[in-house]
Amino acid sequence: MPGERRMKIVHTVTELRAALAGCQKPAFVPTMGNLHDGHLALVRQAKPLGDVAVASIFVNRLQFLPHEDFDSYPRTLDADCAQLQAAGCDVVFAPSEQDLYPEPQSYKLQPPPALADLLEGHFRPGFFVGVSTAVMKLFNCVFAGAPQGGVAVFGKKDYQQLMVLRGMVRQFALPIDIVAADISRAGDGLALSSRNAYLSTGERLEAVQLSRELRSMSALLQAGEHNIAAIEARAVQTLTARGWQPDYLTVRRRADLLPPMPADLHPGHLVLLGAARLGKTRLIDNLEW
Ligand code: PAF
Repeated sequence: MPGERRMKIVHTVTELRAALAGCQKPAFVPTMGNLHDGHLALVRQAKPLGDVAVASIFVNRLQFLPHEDFDSYPRTLDADCAQLQAAGCDVVFAPSEQDLYPEPQSYKLQPPPALADLLEGHFRPGFFVGVSTAVMKLFNCVFAGAPQGGVAVFGKKDYQQLMVLRGMVRQFALPIDIVAADISRAGDGLALSSRNAYLSTGERLEAVQLSRELRSMSALLQAGEHNIAAIEARAVQTLTARGWQPDYLTVRRRADLLPPMPADLHPGHLVLLGAARLGKTRLIDNLEW
């Protein structure tokens, strides 16, 4: 259609750098594809923050454990690109594994165990090494030629990922502002996630209980309950009784994701985080308090 904005889809680092030549300040949204409204909200949030909106689509083998869903993770490039075009994305970087990892990625980025071995890192060992290594590489691909640095937008649903990547940018002095986007939720409160597509109809109805349990934990804190172990145990028991297999439902400090001290039990300092398996699907969610 005449006048329609054309989004570029590129697959190699060389093509990406050519597409971004002359760009002053990219605004970047890294994804693993199979996009939903939450991803598109990140793109819309990123768009005014730079002169070119870039999204990447790359299912990053390095952040999956051998028994996890790397092979079955949905690859839906055409549908993803149509949605990105509608959301205002200018450039999509969709490398193959060979494009991004032309040789085995034997240099890896090791985030601090004090943060990266907790919670998600405990249940998915090596996850944050894989995430950090891929994101550092994607940042180098997207921002290397940008004279004004850039902006990268990440969703708060992956709360610990956001913290790990903020630390990476700070400690390596990368000229990138990390922007945190609020969690996008379905009408019933379920946090949007690509993995929600794995849920059966019955599981989809039940899945909202994870966010409800986090809200119940928040209500107990609000009511002045200071026994954190009791709050956590009650939440784990409730979900277990409903047929879930919880990895954790926990109250942590926003600053470092460690268990709170009595002096931390004030609104604005805490985050409630949950990860639990419903059937074969592992869901995560969180709620700042
Ligand atoms: O959040 C994700 O989708 C992935 O962890 C990311 C940041 C794209 C790295 O592979």
